[in-house]
Amino acid sequence: MERRDCDAIVLFGATGDLCYRKIFPALYHLVRRAILTVPVIGVARQGCDVSWLVTRVRESLKAFVPGADEAVVTRLVGLLRYVDGDYNDRATFDALKKALGTAQRPLHYLAIPPSMFPVVIEHLSASSSAQGARIVIEKPFGRDLASARALNQMLHKHFPESSIFRIDHYLGKEPVQNLLFFRFANSFLEPVWNRNFVASVQVTMAESIGVAGRGRFYEETGAIRDVIQNHLLQIVALLTMEPPVNTAGESLRDEKVKLLKAVRPATPAQLVRGQFTGYRKEPGVAADSQVETYAALALQIDSWRWSGVPFYLRAGKWLPVTATEVVVDLQPPPANVFGDLGPEQPNHLRFRLGPDVAIALGAHIKRPGPVMTGQDTELYVAQHQGDDMDPYEVLIPAALIGDTSHFAREDEVEAAWAIVDPLLNNVAPVVPYTQGSWGPAQAEQLLHGPCGWHNPGAKSEDWVRSCGPARDA
Ligand code: BG6
Repeated sequence: MERRDCDAIVLFGATGDLCYRKIFPALYHLVRRAILTVPVIGVARQGCDVSWLVTRVRESLKAFVPGADEAVVTRLVGLLRYVDGDYNDRATFDALKKALGTAQRPLHYLAIPPSMFPVVIEHLSASSSAQGARIVIEKPFGRDLASARALNQMLHKHFPESSIFRIDHYLGKEPVQNLLFFRFANSFLEPVWNRNFVASVQVTMAESIGVAGRGRFYEETGAIRDVIQNHLLQIVALLTMEPPVNTAGESLRDEKVKLLKAVRPATPAQLVRGQFTGYRKEPGVAADSQVETYAALALQIDSWRWSGVPFYLRAGKWLPVTATEVVVDLQPPPANVFGDLGPEQPNHLRFRLGPDVAIALGAHIKRPGPVMTGQDTELYVAQHQGDDMDPYEVLIPAALIGDTSHFAREDEVEAAWAIVDPLLNNVAPVVPYTQGSWGPAQAEQLLHGPCGWHNPGAKSEDWVRSCGPARDA
């Protein structure tokens, strides 16, 4: 298919935090790599002109791209245009149409609250700026299955699915993309990657920060909507989907949707919700808030490959470390030949997805010496992060060239909501937990094996055993 690149970027929400922290720095790097050469039109209601936007961009680069090359900054500034006005006012969109000039395929980036999507999209459409255009929206894509469906219907009135780019920034992360690569560019994993060899899978997304001034947002969201419905279920899909035929077109997303549809809707009985102590004193948070800042749950995938394998997911704020980690525990060997195996499965695969990146294979090996006894170890590969690109540097160029493969498709989003929908709206009590702890103790009861959660270490090389005395001590 002929590739048709965007010929302008329109940033709605140019005053906002997302532009300031993520989008402007990403645009700088895209200019630096000569990927971005088209006009960038900021839209906001500031009552001023482009010099305001230039200042804002420069401030953002000062904060987030230390040592930015002035020649690159000047090139980026040269691409900036600005339209001032209210999103409710048709005149803003007429001015935007004028600013777009001869552009045929603008990329409209909606870095604005979802409540504003309909009004902006209707105006774009009425002023003919939606024609031939692509649109980028940020999560949350709805608040539940019903509102996600309504959002998709509204979007489809004005844009075909192939022109809609729903950003889940985890899909632009190098180690998350590597899950796919590692699984499908090698042959050694496939024979064991199924219910015959995998005992259970754990996915932990821990953050050692609180809600960081976003109390009001969090009150509307909570951990299930904020990260489990999207980031964690995307990780599960990449870990468990069948191989795509190739990476072109829709194959990848087709396989993810197939997998997500096979996940049994979660049940409140398999959910533990927690709230860190002090959350209710955060600005914008209700004194009796029931919103979860931690959630742990168990899932089942009703597929030929995964039937019967428990998947345990958890995410929380104010946990002891910031780390996202997947641990795939394999079945123990059929016999304890050396008589030294404890309750812990000796074999696992561990994917450290952030902030540092590693893949490790847990193995039991002979302890050097005269006695035939063993010790646990990991074959460990770390990936250096120095050159890692921010996900926005990956995803914005993909949207510019029309590559949808690392964006969430409508049916993918809806399938993910269908999984967590039964867990929304405070269906389970929220249990307080101390800041800096691993969350409510009740979460241990979700796991059926002899061992509990594998708590990620502060660094990727810290493998923390979760049960029994360390056999290699
Ligand atoms: C965002 C959530 O999507 O992801 C935040 O809204 C969370 O609450 C963030 O802190 C984590 O992203 P990362 O890239 O730091 O793991």
